[in-house]
Amino acid sequence: MMASPLKLLLLAAVLLAACASSAHAGEEEVHEVKTAGVEAPEAEPPAPEEHDTAGHESDSDEDSHEDDHDDDHSWSYDGEAGPEKWSHLGYSQCSGQRQSPINVVTNRVIRRHFKPIVFENFNQIPEEMNMTNNFHSAKATLDWERTPKISSGGLPGEYRVINFHFHWGRMDYRGSEHTIDGESYPLEMHIVSQNTKYDELSEALQHPDGLAVMGIMFEVSRANNRAMKRLEPALRRIVKGGASVSVDEPPRLQDLMPWNTNDFYRYDGSLTTPNCNEVVTWTIFLETVKITQKQLELFRALKKNPAPIGRNYRPPQARYGRSVYLSQPEEEEVETIGFAGKTAAVRSGAPALTAGPLAALLTSPLAMRLLF
Ligand SMILES: *[C@@H]1O[C@H](CO)[C@@H](O)[C@H](O)[C@H]1NC(C)=O
Repeated sequence: MMASPLKLLLLAAVLLAACASSAHAGEEEVHEVKTAGVEAPEAEPPAPEEHDTAGHESDSDEDSHEDDHDDDHSWSYDGEAGPEKWSHLGYSQCSGQRQSPINVVTNRVIRRHFKPIVFENFNQIPEEMNMTNNFHSAKATLDWERTPKISSGGLPGEYRVINFHFHWGRMDYRGSEHTIDGESYPLEMHIVSQNTKYDELSEALQHPDGLAVMGIMFEVSRANNRAMKRLEPALRRIVKGGASVSVDEPPRLQDLMPWNTNDFYRYDGSLTTPNCNEVVTWTIFLETVKITQKQLELFRALKKNPAPIGRNYRPPQARYGRSVYLSQPEEEEVETIGFAGKTAAVRSGAPALTAGPLAALLTSPLAMRLLF
């Protein structure tokens, strides 16, 4: 059946209008995505000006205390006490078959739809945060009014956050402990949490479900990472091995984490430092967090005594038949999960919205009548 010229003209007009409206919707969506990305960090009070000047680096700090208990010097990241030797230095678990980190081979991962991880109290400002140079990393210990916890997300229990720390390298192309298809990131943050069913860390370290660690990959960017900026003064003051300082304006844990926490790799592994306890349920987020070159250099400047820590990543360990899962939510779940105020809805929204008006018009009775 042929459409008359008038009908064709009308159809063209309808299509033009539809395209215009859909393009407009597309613009709005882009704008919305931008604001959503920027607003969350912007909403927090502006980062404080640094009190420390570049020349004032460490040693003289009155409030620097050297009371860290895990300053174990008997292992290191190179030489005689390097990672290949750990198991011969008395840390027998380091040669086990459930070791971390690993290289994630993306075409061998098993796809799963774990429920989203539930984050509790991650938007809190810590009451107290100490940053410590423990001779092999920069480690933050925290005190909270309400302890941040994670649960669900396929985790074998509920876990409370106990500390976070970092792994880095000397150059931008190495540094992370986990690698993805052999690729490294310059920095990896580990948020360590302990199963709430164990009271003591020493007890949790004896059980396969004792700890859950979230691994967050950082990428170098010029964009200012405000949460990381809050750690800068403390990092400048713990250059010396053993130094520990209080962080004046501690960031929220949430602001150190990726925006999208729905997409992650999951596997059973271990601590990546001696004693290499095989008690860790690992979560590695696909989305990265940004760090500036200048901030990265603060980690690289940290020293053991007197040499720099330099690099503190353990190389990837054999998988020994363990499964590595990739969890990504089902399409319809994407709308409702993620941190409050930072949901992933905008991501999935864009294509649906642009297709919307056009599809609606084409299937409307008017369009049907015009066409046939
Ligand atoms: C921070 O360090 C001080 C001084 O050593 C200590 O009293 C306090 O318990 C530490 N707090 C945390 C959360 O690590």
